[in-house]
Amino acid sequence: MAGEKSGEKKLKSLFTAEQIQQRVRQIASEIDQQYAGRSVHLVCVLKGACIFLADILRHLRLETSVDFICVWSYEQGATSSGEVRITKDLDHSIAGRDVILVEDIVDTGLTLNYLCQLLLRRNPQSLRVATLLDKPSRRIQPVKLDYVGFEIPDHFVVGYGLDYQQRYRNLPDICLLPDAEESERV
Ligand code: PRP
Repeated sequence: MAGEKSGEKKLKSLFTAEQIQQRVRQIASEIDQQYAGRSVHLVCVLKGACIFLADILRHLRLETSVDFICVWSYEQGATSSGEVRITKDLDHSIAGRDVILVEDIVDTGLTLNYLCQLLLRRNPQSLRVATLLDKPSRRIQPVKLDYVGFEIPDHFVVGYGLDYQQRYRNLPDICLLPDAEESERV
């Protein structure tokens, strides 16, 4: 349970590690059924989605392959601007592959929209999106999400891969960042 370690006392758990694992297992099972008899190529968006990717991968029974892309979103205040820089591109071609893009959170949708357009230009056989968290109240750009772990309200969250200034990614739970600290990110 988060909040037990020194310096993390203020953090309140929104989803426990057990709840997350249960949901990840459900999503993996859904993917296994929908892609039965095929192989799936998972593209993980670094850095936040690394833990979600690792867990979902562990539960999949399909033939799988994995690649990573790292993006940096220019921000205007606390909101991404939609201007995205690729800091690490994929190592392998996705042409003709059944691709699932794996994200940790979709907020404005600007980053995901950019990434989907980029990947579609590379001619995958199919492209679907799995996100651990969806924050629809913040959406600027409509995006199609195929697998969603949890829908959350407009609150800054950390843990299970998600960070605040690169901290808290190691928390096993997904936690709410207290308002006082959140206001410092603007
Ligand atoms: C997060 C997340 C998405 C993006 C979503 O990345 O992984 O890529 O923000 O925001 P949007 O819907 O408003 O575009 P972040 O910039 O926090 O980087 P990180 O994954 O390296 O922590």
